[in-house]
Amino acid sequence: MASSTLSPAAPSQLCSSKSGLFCPSQALLVKPTRTQMVKKDKGMRLTCQATSIPADDRVPDMGKRQLMNLLLLGAVSLPSGFMLVPYGAFFVPAGGRGAGDGTVAKDAFGNDVIAAEWLKTHGPGDRTLTQGLKGDPTYLVVEKDKTLATYGINGVCTHLGCVVPWNQAENKFICPCHGSQYNEQGRVVRGPAPLSLALAHADVDDGKVVFVPWVETDFRTGEAPWWA
Ligand code: FES
Repeated sequence: MASSTLSPAAPSQLCSSKSGLFCPSQALLVKPTRTQMVKKDKGMRLTCQATSIPADDRVPDMGKRQLMNLLLLGAVSLPSGFMLVPYGAFFVPAGGRGAGDGTVAKDAFGNDVIAAEWLKTHGPGDRTLTQGLKGDPTYLVVEKDKTLATYGINGVCTHLGCVVPWNQAENKFICPCHGSQYNEQGRVVRGPAPLSLALAHADVDDGKVVFVPWVETDFRTGEAPWWA
């Protein structure tokens, strides 16, 4: 018979298996509500049967688990999303020219270059260094008709980076370091410099000269700009 004689002081230990052998470990896995009291007589003789528990019922609280998973997912994905936006923007190529892309040209004293004032003191054919994009020395060009050219010429030699002075008599930029030469528009005409001088747009905005990155085809060579 699958029965045990039990003491009233320890009812939680009162189960026996169907085989009739008492099994404490099995008794610990059985919920009291799953225990079916089969028989109870006057002598406190109890018989109970343990039933198997479905796997789902052994999970303490599935609802809480799902809530915690959702909170964890939100805590990870929100900061990741905020970081991905600037990271992705890094790989987006720069668009066309915009008002915020420019840098106001500065003269030798660090003052903004006012186009009208500049033309009063710089005649046709003049090429004078100003401070341009990223602080690079950039030539402002006055055309023969006494207007400002729509481009500026970066004065950094494409060989090893010396600043190339304008030689009015030769009508060229001639590098003092290794002798590279560039024509009046900055196109390389003699090495060892491998490339022409970089260009920048020279716009006039509210009376001031503003340099804007040149990302279009290099009009001197018909090629894509190497500096963009
Ligand atoms: S740095 Fe200009 S030619 Fe070498």
